[in-house]
Amino acid sequence: MNKRFYLTTAIDYVNGAPHLGHAYEKVVADVIARARRSMGEEVFFLTGLDEHGQKVQQAAEAEGKDPQSYCDGLADQWQAFVQRLGLSNNDFIRTTEPRHKTIVTALLNRLHQEGHFYKAGYEGWYSVKEETFLTDKDQNPDGSWDPKWGEVIRLKEENWYFRMGEHKDWLIQYLEEHPEFVQPTTRRNEILGFLRSQPLGDLCISRPRARLSWGIPLPFDPEYVNYVWFDALTNYLTVPAIRGDVQAKAVELGQTATDFSAWPADLHVVGKDIVKFHAVYWPIMLKALGAPLPKTVLVHGWWQKDGQKLSKSTGNVVDPIAVINEWGLDAFRYYVVRELAIGPDGNWTDDGFRSRYNAELANGLGNLLNRALNMLNKYRSGIVPAPSRELAEDAATAVSTTAAYLKANELQEALVTIWGLVNRANLYVEQTAPFRLAKDPTQAARLDEVLYNLVEVCRILAVLLAPFMPQAAEKIWAQLNLPAGDLRWPLTAWGGLKAGHQVGAPQPLFPRKDLVPK
Ligand code: ME8
Ligand code: MG
Repeated sequence: MNKRFYLTTAIDYVNGAPHLGHAYEKVVADVIARARRSMGEEVFFLTGLDEHGQKVQQAAEAEGKDPQSYCDGLADQWQAFVQRLGLSNNDFIRTTEPRHKTIVTALLNRLHQEGHFYKAGYEGWYSVKEETFLTDKDQNPDGSWDPKWGEVIRLKEENWYFRMGEHKDWLIQYLEEHPEFVQPTTRRNEILGFLRSQPLGDLCISRPRARLSWGIPLPFDPEYVNYVWFDALTNYLTVPAIRGDVQAKAVELGQTATDFSAWPADLHVVGKDIVKFHAVYWPIMLKALGAPLPKTVLVHGWWQKDGQKLSKSTGNVVDPIAVINEWGLDAFRYYVVRELAIGPDGNWTDDGFRSRYNAELANGLGNLLNRALNMLNKYRSGIVPAPSRELAEDAATAVSTTAAYLKANELQEALVTIWGLVNRANLYVEQTAPFRLAKDPTQAARLDEVLYNLVEVCRILAVLLAPFMPQAAEKIWAQLNLPAGDLRWPLTAWGGLKAGHQVGAPQPLFPRKDLVPK
């Protein structure tokens, strides 16, 4: 039984509509999932929704709805969003589903029985908005609180705690010995710095029902529901466990193991604001359960627009669906991955988007395909000439470099490499000037060579681009009149186009937008 390459995204809160940040993370994960499949791995790609907790309860109240029907309404919209982004996810988890609640309940019971929890009273400052107790360190010298905490109240209550603090030493050692556990390195250093410089407290894993009812009840104390983050992180284990994964079955559910194997996760793709949950809380929860730890937490930065924070209230937003409707899915996927490396923060500008669209997609890739097919149709009736290897070396280098970047999750560099080949082929057209060769009958053999190299590069580009831009890749493939099917990596080998093959007619991949009247 093969263990699958298992990757996840963060599960989004259903307290509003999806925005650019959500879309970006999901596209990044999808590119990685598709690339791994292309290179022969069996992949399990999970995404979904985080539906419990205060934020969702408050959002539902604000609309006068009960939380479940509020979530159900938005879940449809979010699932449509996943479709619209072209995600190749294998499952979609909602934390209000019975399958999830069953696992969380079982995990809680087990941790409780094994003595990982205790009940204690606590009095302190509490941020209602962020659902978290604050310490004196969070308070300004003048006694005020940062506006990000919203309303801060004095709260005294009994709660259940998870003995997290005692796990600190091995976690530091684990991070030191596994540099790949948190990527990029800057984020790993941040977590190590945090762990080394501050005491790690125990984690409050309950909320009194009187204050917050929208959560999974603690099975051993009906006065409480589970803290939303404990429930949310568990989603990564729920889906493999319910499918019978033996490693994920840290709880005994009485199921028979199937041939499904995915845990431990290979990759959790998350944003910079939730690293601590994934690189500290989550590994400690897993350790307490005796489950193996995920291999890598891949941390991406945050998008801004025009140098300002994305914000619904100021209207500084990018609606991914509107962009996709206007420019096409592939253009959106291309721009976000090409513009921003995984790690730093990014800045969306409409001008930047337009200029990449026109220069790199329409004039770069689109024009190459158009010229290659046009000339082959015009000079050779669309019939592929005998193979030639003039650009074979350039293509092979691009293929191996791209593969290495993809395996290292360096998606931006992978696209830069692929565009190196696009530009090389466009330059080749300028240098060989096939339109001139076509006028000289003594140059017929040379023209055959040039035409072969151009269409063969286009074919290979389709395979390289498929993880990023699945629709454009399929269109290139169809215009080359090749049989539809998965564009797997082995198809990047030079010489796939055979002499005598009839290609199709060129159609614009990315219509130039500046020429289209509004
Ligand atoms: O944090 N740019 O949900 P969420 C890039 N439910 N990424 C952004 C972003 C931006 N401007 N804004 C948000 C949660 N994100 C929890 C996760 S996982 C077990 C539970 C990213 O809807 C953010 O960093 O607030 C996170 O990875 C994801 O969107 C969901 O954020
Ligand atoms: Mg958030």
